[in-house]
Amino acid sequence: MSPEPERLLEVSGVVKRFGGFHALDGLSFHVSPGEILGLVGPNGSGKTTAINVISGLYAPDAGSVSFLRSPVGGMASHKLVHLGINRTFQVPKPFMSLTVKQNVEVAHTYGNASDKALPMADLLERFHLAEVANRPASDLTNVQQKTLDLVRALATQPKLLLLDELAAGLNPTELDWIAGEIKTLAQSGLAIIVVEHLMGFIEQITDRVIVMNAGKEIFEGTLAVAVTVPEVVEVFLGGEHAA
Ligand SMILES: Nc1ncnc2c1ncn2[C@@H]1O[C@H](COP(=O)(O)OP(=O)(O)OP(=O)(O)O)[C@@H](O)[C@H]1O
Ligand SMILES: [Mg+2]
Repeated sequence: MSPEPERLLEVSGVVKRFGGFHALDGLSFHVSPGEILGLVGPNGSGKTTAINVISGLYAPDAGSVSFLRSPVGGMASHKLVHLGINRTFQVPKPFMSLTVKQNVEVAHTYGNASDKALPMADLLERFHLAEVANRPASDLTNVQQKTLDLVRALATQPKLLLLDELAAGLNPTELDWIAGEIKTLAQSGLAIIVVEHLMGFIEQITDRVIVMNAGKEIFEGTLAVAVTVPEVVEVFLGGEHAA
């Protein structure tokens, strides 16, 4: 056994610019297998941009992203899915005219695991989609579209799962349920980055958080400690007042 956990993902000094604006401004952090890392920060702090860079939607303008010790910054999303990185979207984007089952089958076919059997029935049952399996995605509620997005990502059998505000819009019972499922996934060895504004949810599931502001990390550690740091408190209060 090695004394240090293996680093599955290493983000180092990543910069992402939109015109002259630095959405990410030297972001660095790492994630290990089986770890649930929270990525928190006020609106516009760069959380989704970080997920977009790690999942290959955008290439970083500077810095590096490595996965399983290989550089992957700027690699296309479909290649990253094959390597084992997949994500959900802040606003889910299933294929609306396809059924739930077909959406999951497409993900499986194009994903990392197309040569392995897909436990479709189990997945749909576990994520409360069995009764809508043959309905088009456009018929689903917002919460069902979110869980479908998660099941599509899981169907590709990722090693690193990026969840962008999966819990937003869920009721307390659904939050408890999805928190339990996320923890179970991590216990199986999956590394999970959770972007979320709901601090109770973050506290319930994360091992560690990165607090972001203006494209940078301003804190790394447990949420319990984060809330005692004046700069962190100020950033969140400032964000609320600005909203
Ligand atoms: N494609 C883009 N083009 C131009 N600006 C962008 C683009 N994507 C993000 N930005 C800007 O980058 C900044 C960071 O946005 P991002 O979506 O990463 O924030 P966030 O932390 O996810 O916010 P929220 O909590 O509201 O989802 C914002 O100012 C946003 O307007
Ligand atoms: Mg966002």
